[in-house]
Amino acid sequence: AHGGSASAHGGSANVHGGSANAHLAAIADIGRSTAGGYARHVFTGAETTLREWFVAEAERLGLDIELDRNSNIWAWWGPPGDGAVITGSHLDSVPGGGAFDGPLGVASALDAVQRLQAEGFKPAKPFALMVFAEEEGSRFGVACLGSRLMTGAIGADKALALRDVDGLTFADAARAAGFAPERMGQDEQALRRIGTFVELHVEQGRGLIDLDRPVGVGSSILAHGRWRLSFSGTGNHAGTTAIDERRDPMIAAAASVLAARSVAAAGDGVRATVGRLVPRPGGTNVIASHVDAWLDVRAGADLVTRAAVDEIVEQAQAAADREGCELQVREESYGGEVFFDPALAGRISGVLGRSMDCTVPMLSTGAGHDAGILAAKVPTAMIYVRNPSGISHAPEEFAEPADVAAGVGALVDVLKDLLR
Ligand code: GLV
Ligand code: MN
Ligand code: MN
Ligand code: MN
Repeated sequence: AHGGSASAHGGSANVHGGSANAHLAAIADIGRSTAGGYARHVFTGAETTLREWFVAEAERLGLDIELDRNSNIWAWWGPPGDGAVITGSHLDSVPGGGAFDGPLGVASALDAVQRLQAEGFKPAKPFALMVFAEEEGSRFGVACLGSRLMTGAIGADKALALRDVDGLTFADAARAAGFAPERMGQDEQALRRIGTFVELHVEQGRGLIDLDRPVGVGSSILAHGRWRLSFSGTGNHAGTTAIDERRDPMIAAAASVLAARSVAAAGDGVRATVGRLVPRPGGTNVIASHVDAWLDVRAGADLVTRAAVDEIVEQAQAAADREGCELQVREESYGGEVFFDPALAGRISGVLGRSMDCTVPMLSTGAGHDAGILAAKVPTAMIYVRNPSGISHAPEEFAEPADVAAGVGALVDVLKDLLR
C-alpha cells in the first residue's frame, strides 16, 4: 500500500530543491486531521498557513503576489495583463482529504516556473499562477466558491450568506481572515486577465491506471450538484415513545440514502451520494427532531442528472409522508456538463504527444474543478496525473513521485507552447 501522504517521500526534498514532490513533502504536516487525512478548510489556520507557504514560495521565484476581490491568490511572473496564461489549483481539502487533490496542481505550477526559469525561458505573454479559494465547498457547502464568485456563477449575496457548521457566514469568516466581503462578487477585470487556464490535477479515478499512462488531458466534467434534504419530525424519548407514535426524521433520511443508491444504480451513469447526514439534536437516547441529508448527484447530461434528483426526492418525500415528517429540499449548487475547449485540448495533446514518448489519453471525469467553472467564460484545460490507488477525497489518494515529475514535465511543455 502507498503511504497516502507526500511525507512518505520526503527524501526527494534533498534531491530536487523546488520540485513538486519536495513542495508536497514540505506541506505534508499542515492541516492533518486527527480523524485521518487532512482538514484544510478555507480561512482556517491550516488553509491560511498553506496560503502563506504558497506566497513565500512564489516570492522566492520572484513572482508578484496579488489577491483578487474574491480571495483567490495570483502570482505573476512579469507584469500582470489581460489575456494571460494561468495555471494553478487549490489548497483546501475535503474533510479527511488526501495530500494531492489541489496541492498537486499548485506544487506543480511552482515547480514548472522554477524549471522554466532555470532554462532561461522568457514568457512572451502575461503569465500567473493561481490558488483558488474554497474549491471543495467543505466549509460553506458550495464548491468552487472563488471561481464561481469571479465568474458570477454564484451571486455575492448568496455566497456571503452561506454558513459553516458553527453558523459563521462566509462574509464573517472572510472578514476575520482579512478579506473584504463587501468587495466580493463577479469580477470582470480578473476574468479579462485569464486568457487561458490550465489546471493540473491528480486523477480521481482509475482512467490512467486502466490505460497504463502517467498523464492525461481533460475532455469533460459530469453535470453535478448538491441538494440539501431537510427532514423534520418530533424529538422525543428513545425509551418511552412507542414505535407507532414516532415521527422520526431519521427513518425518512435513511430511506433517502437508499433511494439515492437505487436510483443511481438504475440510471445511465448516474452517481448519487449522501456523504453527510446531520441529525439534531444528536443524542443516542433522543429521537431526532430534524435531520439534514446532503445529496450529491452527477451524471453525463443535464436531463439525466435532473431526472435522477427528481426521482430521489420523490422517494424521499414518500418516505417522509409515511413517517409523518416534513421534507424541505434546497438546491445548494448545480452546474451542467462541462466540455473543455476542444481546440485547447487538441493543442495540449498535440504538444504532449510530441514531448512524451507515449500517447496522452483524453479523460472525462466526475470530479468538479475550478477549471470547470472557468470553462464557461475562457478556454480552459486540465492535465491529469495518474493516481495508483484510484481513490480520492480520502487519505489513500496518491501519485508516484515519478508520475508527479512527468506531470510537471507535461505542464512545462504546455506552458512553453502557450507562452511563446
Ligand atoms: C470536488 O472535488 C468535487 O468534485 O466534489
Ligand atoms: Mn481538486
Ligand atoms: Mn476535490
Ligand atoms: Mn474538486
